[in-house]
Amino acid sequence: MKVDGKEMRPIWFDTVSETVKIIDQRFLPHQLIIEDLKTVDDVIRAIKEMYVRGAPLIGATGALGVYVILVQKNNGGADNEYLDAQCRRLKDARPTAMNLFWGVDRVRNATLKETEYDVRVKMALAEALKVIEEEAENCRQIGRHGLALIKDISQRKNGKPVNILTHCNAGWLACIEYGTATAPIYTAFDHGIAVHVWVDETRPLNQGARLTAWELGKHGVPHTVITDNAGGHLMQHGMVDLVIVGTDRTTRAGDVANKIGTYLKALAAKDNNIPFYVALPSSTFDWRITDGLKDIPIEERNPDEIHFVQGLCRGKIQNVRVSPKDTPAANPAFDVTPASLVTGFITERGVCNATESDIMDLFPEKRIE
Ligand code: MRU
Repeated sequence: MKVDGKEMRPIWFDTVSETVKIIDQRFLPHQLIIEDLKTVDDVIRAIKEMYVRGAPLIGATGALGVYVILVQKNNGGADNEYLDAQCRRLKDARPTAMNLFWGVDRVRNATLKETEYDVRVKMALAEALKVIEEEAENCRQIGRHGLALIKDISQRKNGKPVNILTHCNAGWLACIEYGTATAPIYTAFDHGIAVHVWVDETRPLNQGARLTAWELGKHGVPHTVITDNAGGHLMQHGMVDLVIVGTDRTTRAGDVANKIGTYLKALAAKDNNIPFYVALPSSTFDWRITDGLKDIPIEERNPDEIHFVQGLCRGKIQNVRVSPKDTPAANPAFDVTPASLVTGFITERGVCNATESDIMDLFPEKRIE
């Protein structure tokens, strides 16, 4: 996607320096800082401390992380024990997003076929870059399939702006291109359909206010940042036509883990008869599980993310304390929205209802006989 006229992705492989490069998202929208990931510890830190974040992006970072593991330790051969130990460290960096395990395993498994060190390294890089291109294309397809939903509402409103509410950042910064939740929005906007996005600020780290607002602004999409608690009120007053969110892990039966607060948006949407869609590439499905509440691990993050708020003050990025010193805080980073509250999924293969049988109709290879 374009930033001030320049094509950008949140992660890429620089062929000149042979280095993995990322946008360090901690400082957006105030500073656009690019970092190199040269060691596996760099990669783990970038994922844990959310220089990179969003399910498809941490999947892509994990995939390139396997290449970094191999480059960092040239022991001349195929040391599977070392590779596996480092892959486990990568996968432990964040517990909820399925894509991280998927991306790491996919590249690890591809390299296991090779025994010669040099071939292994080349194979790891090629497979990781393939993951990145495939995920970009999946997001493009999500945009194509989701377009019909927005077009339909636009026609019913006689071309008046379609008001779409989204939570967290499920845009290109969280993916590679287009985003998941934002892909239908960008596609509709690029097709000349009038859209307006309600952007949940998404406390505690404000991925909505910092990242989604920045992305939409750079693309020229009309949007308004709201507090996380405003969505229900807007829905009650007919100011939201559609909710689209992303997800970090979705079960084969359609339970959705996403950024904390998503569940409350789904409840409010249900109460107000507003369609609530979840956009995701198939890499985010956890095909092994059906019960999201029981089986999806929810990341508990540092309470300081609650105690402090980051922002720009006199030209400098600063953290300021919100809560009284010594007050305890709890910081679950995700919640689970049961399938019963989800109107449907927008995937690279099309749109389906949030039921196991409809999901299996789109992904028949995942049926359990
Ligand atoms: O903690 P984060 O910022 O990694 O959480 C990201 C989200 O919750 C996104 O909504 C989700 O990963 C979908 S991204 C396309």
